[in-house]
Amino acid sequence: MPVTQVQPPSDDRRWRAVEARMRRLGGGPDALIEVLHAVQDAFGFLDVEALAYVSDALRVPPAKVYGVATFYSYFTLEPGGDHTCVVCTGTACHMEGAAAILAAIGAAHGVAPGGTSEDGHLSLLAARCLGVCSLAPVMVLDGEPIGRLTPESALARIASLPAGARAGAAAGAGVDSRGGAP
Ligand code: FES
Repeated sequence: MPVTQVQPPSDDRRWRAVEARMRRLGGGPDALIEVLHAVQDAFGFLDVEALAYVSDALRVPPAKVYGVATFYSYFTLEPGGDHTCVVCTGTACHMEGAAAILAAIGAAHGVAPGGTSEDGHLSLLAARCLGVCSLAPVMVLDGEPIGRLTPESALARIASLPAGARAGAAAGAGVDSRGGAP
Protein backbone atom coordinates (compact mmCIF):
# COMPACT_ATOMS: atom_id res chain seq x y z
CA MET A 1 0.00 0.00 0.00
CA PRO A 2 1.75 3.22 -1.09
CA VAL A 3 2.08 6.08 1.40
CA THR A 4 0.83 8.56 -1.15
CA GLN A 5 -0.46 8.42 -4.71
CA VAL A 6 2.96 9.61 -5.87
CA GLN A 7 4.86 6.88 -7.64
CA PRO A 8 8.58 6.31 -6.98
CA PRO A 9 10.91 7.18 -9.87
CA SER A 10 11.36 3.52 -10.82
CA ASP A 11 10.22 0.05 -9.85
CA ASP A 12 13.56 -0.62 -8.18
CA ARG A 13 12.78 -2.75 -5.13
CA ARG A 14 14.74 -0.41 -2.87
CA TRP A 15 11.94 2.11 -3.16
CA ARG A 16 9.77 -0.30 -1.18
CA ALA A 17 12.04 0.14 1.82
CA VAL A 18 11.87 3.89 1.39
CA GLU A 19 8.07 3.79 1.17
CA ALA A 20 7.88 1.61 4.26
CA ARG A 21 10.04 4.07 6.19
CA MET A 22 7.93 6.95 4.90
CA ARG A 23 4.78 5.18 6.04
CA ARG A 24 6.17 4.59 9.54
CA LEU A 25 7.09 8.26 9.77
CA GLY A 26 3.61 9.41 8.82
CA GLY A 27 4.39 10.53 5.27
CA GLY A 28 4.29 14.25 6.04
CA PRO A 29 6.72 17.18 5.73
CA ASP A 30 8.16 16.52 9.20
CA ALA A 31 9.65 13.27 7.91
CA LEU A 32 11.88 15.01 5.36
CA ILE A 33 15.30 14.40 6.90
CA GLU A 34 14.50 10.84 7.90
CA VAL A 35 13.19 10.05 4.44
CA LEU A 36 16.27 11.54 2.77
CA HIS A 37 18.34 9.30 5.04
CA ALA A 38 16.24 6.33 3.92
CA VAL A 39 16.80 7.13 0.24
CA GLN A 40 20.53 7.59 0.72
CA ASP A 41 20.78 4.42 2.80
CA ALA A 42 19.06 2.55 -0.02
CA PHE A 43 20.81 4.07 -3.02
CA GLY A 44 24.00 5.60 -1.65
CA PHE A 45 23.24 9.08 -2.91
CA LEU A 46 20.36 11.42 -3.78
CA ASP A 47 19.68 12.19 -7.43
CA VAL A 48 17.36 14.70 -9.02
CA GLU A 49 14.56 12.17 -9.55
CA ALA A 50 14.76 11.00 -5.95
CA LEU A 51 14.58 14.56 -4.63
CA ALA A 52 11.59 15.33 -6.85
CA TYR A 53 9.84 12.21 -5.61
CA VAL A 54 10.49 13.05 -1.96
CA SER A 55 9.23 16.56 -2.58
CA ASP A 56 5.98 15.31 -4.13
CA ALA A 57 5.45 12.45 -1.70
CA LEU A 58 5.97 14.54 1.45
CA ARG A 59 4.42 17.69 -0.01
CA VAL A 60 7.56 19.73 0.68
CA PRO A 61 8.63 22.46 -1.78
CA PRO A 62 11.60 21.34 -3.93
CA ALA A 63 13.69 24.30 -2.74
CA LYS A 64 13.34 23.09 0.82
CA VAL A 65 14.24 19.50 -0.14
CA TYR A 66 17.34 20.70 -2.00
CA GLY A 67 18.17 23.01 0.87
CA VAL A 68 18.21 20.16 3.36
CA ALA A 69 19.95 17.74 0.97
CA THR A 70 22.79 20.17 0.36
CA PHE A 71 22.98 21.56 3.90
CA TYR A 72 24.01 18.38 5.64
CA SER A 73 27.36 16.95 4.62
CA TYR A 74 25.95 13.50 5.29
CA PHE A 75 23.87 13.78 2.17
CA THR A 76 25.52 13.50 -1.21
CA LEU A 77 24.04 14.31 -4.60
CA GLU A 78 26.63 12.21 -6.40
CA PRO A 79 27.48 8.52 -6.27
CA GLY A 80 29.98 8.09 -3.46
CA GLY A 81 33.45 6.69 -3.73
CA ASP A 82 34.51 3.48 -2.07
CA HIS A 83 35.61 5.54 0.91
CA THR A 84 34.61 8.94 2.19
CA CYS A 85 36.93 11.40 3.86
CA VAL A 86 35.55 14.51 5.55
CA VAL A 87 38.22 17.04 6.46
CA CYS A 88 37.25 19.56 9.10
CA THR A 89 37.94 23.14 8.07
CA GLY A 90 36.48 24.74 11.21
CA THR A 91 38.43 27.39 13.07
CA ALA A 92 40.43 25.12 15.39
CA CYS A 93 41.36 22.76 12.58
CA HIS A 94 42.12 25.63 10.25
CA MET A 95 44.56 27.03 12.82
CA GLU A 96 46.24 23.63 12.99
CA GLY A 97 46.74 23.23 9.26
CA ALA A 98 43.51 21.78 7.85
CA ALA A 99 44.03 23.56 4.54
CA ALA A 100 47.34 21.77 3.97
CA ILE A 101 45.73 18.42 4.77
CA LEU A 102 42.86 19.06 2.40
CA ALA A 103 45.27 20.18 -0.32
CA ALA A 104 47.52 17.15 0.17
CA ILE A 105 44.63 14.71 -0.10
CA GLY A 106 43.21 16.56 -3.09
CA ALA A 107 46.54 16.53 -4.89
CA ALA A 108 47.31 12.90 -4.10
CA HIS A 109 43.92 11.63 -5.27
CA GLY A 110 43.08 14.20 -7.91
CA VAL A 111 39.88 15.24 -6.23
CA ALA A 112 38.42 18.53 -5.04
CA PRO A 113 36.17 18.82 -1.98
CA GLY A 114 32.70 17.65 -2.91
CA GLY A 115 34.05 15.28 -5.55
CA THR A 116 35.13 11.69 -6.01
CA SER A 117 38.48 10.54 -7.37
CA GLU A 118 38.45 9.28 -10.94
CA ASP A 119 39.10 5.72 -9.83
CA GLY A 120 36.10 5.89 -7.48
CA HIS A 121 38.33 5.14 -4.49
CA LEU A 122 37.78 8.29 -2.46
CA SER A 123 35.10 10.95 -2.01
CA LEU A 124 36.41 14.09 -0.35
CA LEU A 125 34.30 16.53 1.62
CA ALA A 126 35.11 19.60 3.68
CA ALA A 127 33.00 20.30 6.74
CA ARG A 128 32.86 22.98 9.36
CA CYS A 129 33.59 21.98 12.95
CA LEU A 130 33.08 18.28 13.52
CA GLY A 131 32.75 18.86 17.25
CA VAL A 132 36.05 17.33 18.35
CA CYS A 133 38.19 20.46 18.32
CA SER A 134 40.57 19.15 21.01
CA LEU A 135 41.78 16.68 18.38
CA ALA A 136 42.41 19.34 15.73
CA PRO A 137 43.18 18.98 12.93
CA VAL A 138 40.63 16.26 12.32
CA MET A 139 39.21 14.20 9.50
CA VAL A 140 36.47 11.58 9.56
CA LEU A 141 37.42 8.63 7.42
CA ASP A 142 34.58 6.22 6.68
CA GLY A 143 32.86 7.42 9.84
CA GLU A 144 35.95 7.25 12.10
CA PRO A 145 37.20 10.55 13.52
CA ILE A 146 41.01 10.75 13.32
CA GLY A 147 42.75 13.65 15.02
CA ARG A 148 46.08 15.44 15.36
CA LEU A 149 46.77 14.88 11.70
CA THR A 150 49.55 16.04 9.48
CA PRO A 151 49.28 15.92 5.69
CA GLU A 152 51.56 12.89 5.77
CA SER A 153 49.61 10.99 8.42
CA ALA A 154 46.31 11.77 6.68
CA LEU A 155 47.65 10.39 3.41
CA ALA A 156 49.01 7.34 5.21
CA ARG A 157 45.63 6.58 6.75
CA ILE A 158 43.92 6.89 3.39
CA ALA A 159 46.59 4.74 1.77
CA SER A 160 45.83 2.00 4.30
CA LEU A 161 42.22 1.73 3.15
CA PRO A 162 41.34 -1.43 1.27
CA ALA A 163 40.82 -1.01 -2.45
CA GLY A 164 37.34 -1.49 -3.77
CA ALA A 165 35.63 -1.89 -0.38
CA ARG A 166 32.58 0.26 -0.39
CA ALA A 167 32.19 2.25 2.80
CA GLY A 168 28.67 2.02 4.16
CA ALA A 169 27.22 5.38 5.05
CA ALA A 170 28.96 8.58 4.13
CA ALA A 171 31.40 9.71 6.74
CA GLY A 172 30.34 12.02 9.47
CA ALA A 173 26.71 10.96 9.66
CA GLY A 174 24.87 13.78 11.25
CA VAL A 175 27.81 16.10 10.85
CA ASP A 176 26.52 19.21 9.27
CA SER A 177 28.56 21.26 6.89
CA ARG A 178 27.70 24.66 8.31
CA GLY A 179 27.55 24.07 12.01
CA GLY A 180 23.81 24.09 12.57
CA ALA A 181 20.38 23.15 11.35
CA PRO A 182 18.82 24.87 8.34
S1 FES B 1 37.12 22.99 14.24
FE1 FES B 1 37.61 20.99 13.59
S2 FES B 1 36.63 19.74 15.02
FE2 FES B 1 36.07 21.74 15.64
